[in-house]
Amino acid sequence: MIRGVASRLVTGVSVVVTMDDGEPLATTAGSVVVASWDPPLLAVLFQTGSRMDIALHRCGGFTVNVLGEADHGLARRFARPEREPGWAALSGARFLRRDPSPPVLQGAVAWAECAVTQTIPIGDHTCFVGEVLESASHDGAGPLAYYRGRFRALGTAVAPAAWTTVEAADLTTAW
Ligand SMILES: Cc1cc2nc3c(=O)[nH]c(=O)nc-3n(C[C@H](O)[C@H](O)[C@H](O)COP(=O)(O)O)c2cc1C
Repeated sequence: MIRGVASRLVTGVSVVVTMDDGEPLATTAGSVVVASWDPPLLAVLFQTGSRMDIALHRCGGFTVNVLGEADHGLARRFARPEREPGWAALSGARFLRRDPSPPVLQGAVAWAECAVTQTIPIGDHTCFVGEVLESASHDGAGPLAYYRGRFRALGTAVAPAAWTTVEAADLTTAW
């Protein structure tokens, strides 16, 4: 039942990368949220006991790479439970930077490097809250979206001029 709700929540698609024993581990994640503006915090949730959960507890740092619509192949690759960890698993992927690790993917529409400040067990997941140490975003390519089990591009805006000037100042500057 909750899966019906989950499948109808449109999410952006990110690849979270952390380091485990000196090797990167990359996982596709839809759970990335802005948890705080000041201090700047992002939160990601991973199933407790998953490789990413274990590695994040050990490493204490991660990058969030918000994928563009062309990168659905990367999203599929890093969602496969049988994928190998390590640099070999990232073969063919291009990097904006490899050092300092964890790496940042080239082509991400936005990325952030985070240091874990809190880990919160929530049901069968763990929420990792990360302070944003560095970040960047790019205009141009649209973001990759996930809805009802399919990767998608965004459609056209349905309310292109809906905000009044006051609303725009209050709302869209932040969100
Ligand atoms: C679009 C999409 C979003 C996902 N988001 C999450 C997520 O936020 N948290 C999570 O634990 N798994 C998520 N998954 C599943 C993981 O990508 C992956 O299959 C799982 O973490 C593999 O477990 P491992 O870390 O043990 O390898 C998502 C998969 C897809 C296709």
